[in-house]
Amino acid sequence: MAITTSSVLDNATRLQYLEAMGIDVWVSRASADHQQAPVSDALPETIDSWELLQAEVAPCTKCDLCKTRTQTVFGSGNKNAEWMFIGEGPGQNEDQQGLPFVGKAGQLLTEMLRAIGLDREEVFIANIVKCRPPANRDPNPIEIETCKPYLLRQLVLIKPKIIVVLGRVAAQALLNTDEPIGRLRGKIHALNDTPVVVVYHPAYLLRSLLDKRKAWADLKLAMQTVKHIKG
Ligand code: URA
Repeated sequence: MAITTSSVLDNATRLQYLEAMGIDVWVSRASADHQQAPVSDALPETIDSWELLQAEVAPCTKCDLCKTRTQTVFGSGNKNAEWMFIGEGPGQNEDQQGLPFVGKAGQLLTEMLRAIGLDREEVFIANIVKCRPPANRDPNPIEIETCKPYLLRQLVLIKPKIIVVLGRVAAQALLNTDEPIGRLRGKIHALNDTPVVVVYHPAYLLRSLLDKRKAWADLKLAMQTVKHIKG
């Protein structure tokens, strides 16, 4: 079994069933060394609610992205979803509509969901950062660390069975790693006991048809994982 560096895994039972599936599990360097996970990954323990969280996100001015956004993009879908999809950050269309993945990449994401038998309404879709970075640049590390707690709170509220993280920026941010996406995909990671599968970003797949096959393999890996969890 490949033991690598990018996630937090402390559930022996989960490990066992993933092992039984013959699936590589990544263990974070922090947990392997018995160190504390970074503070930003510690799940909040206070009682939280969607109302509270939405009321905090909507007027957020914690980083400079608030100066150029039209509105925050909280995320959309089923608040009890089994599947959570996480992208990088809103683009122009998302910034205008206040919804994630509504542009061309969003249309491909909808197709990818369909291919594995899911509707947008039954999953939850969110981003690492809730505000559009100007000119669609990558969010910077400060913006990511400032915004990530909102996403972690969404994860606690939803308790998905699986997280599918879309693209390099989101994968590296969520898994606290700088490994290239080619090494992150094709494996099961974990974030606080929830399995995480990395899939190429739909915007990238629109440009790189050759990697669609790998994306399909990763979606199948995610499906297989959920199937196994549900028994
Ligand atoms: N790309 C993303 O990463 N997120 C969106 O919401 C839209 C495009």
